[in-house]
Amino acid sequence: MTAVPEPRGDVAVLVPAAGLGLRLGPGAPKALRPLAGEPLLVHAVRRLAAAPSVGTIVVAAPPEGESDVRRMLAPVAPVTVVPGGATRQESVAAALAAVPAPLEIVLVHDAARALTPPALIEAVAAAVRAGHDAVIPVLPVVDTIKEVDARERVVGTVDRSGLRAVQTPQGFRRSLLAAAHGAAVDALTDDAGLVEELGVPVACVPGSEWALKITRPVDLAFAEALLRMQPAAGPHPRPA
Ligand code: C5P
Repeated sequence: MTAVPEPRGDVAVLVPAAGLGLRLGPGAPKALRPLAGEPLLVHAVRRLAAAPSVGTIVVAAPPEGESDVRRMLAPVAPVTVVPGGATRQESVAAALAAVPAPLEIVLVHDAARALTPPALIEAVAAAVRAGHDAVIPVLPVVDTIKEVDARERVVGTVDRSGLRAVQTPQGFRRSLLAAAHGAAVDALTDDAGLVEELGVPVACVPGSEWALKITRPVDLAFAEALLRMQPAAGPHPRPA
């Protein structure tokens, strides 16, 4: 059996994993759904643990799933497990409250982005270390984007050259993330949005196709195909 890797780094990662994942269809909470025989959360945490910067991982578990999550992750990496909240934002806030005091860099990473390569985790952490208080990984938008009205009629075509699709992990100076959550009024779908509401600049680093968010059944099929392409190598090596 592979030894559980010892945490080494100066970065805490919060993993909101408490969503029900209704868009995947009926079944277990999304983070616990299998991908190539293992829960999405196991894939995600294994890759986090393989990133040298990561020192602490805090998982916000699905309702009543805390002990299952603890058992499931014990052979993968040392993790702290807390109960998640009713929204993603509440789950992130619960996980943030469990981060040990000395860690000044905090990443927030959706369990649903289960194949995110350690190299991307490192790139986000490095950008925060280099002085950016908030960092997000992004990809160019490839589709043409139309704006529609309430009756699904096109009212305009958006210039996509200035648009980016946003991934996780998103990286923050810890005090900024805490302030952003403390000041949050609206429920937003990402943490950088809360930082933007404070008027703080958010820096971008190049994202990864492997960090796709597994949301619909077709995403699971796509992720399985990616794993078949590069089961043990490529951008997401398993720790030896
Ligand atoms: O619902 P959505 O796909 O945007 O969820 C993104 C991430 O937030 C998922 O990893 C999900 O498990 C997590 N989440 C959570 N607590 C909630 C809702 C979503 O931790 N109440």
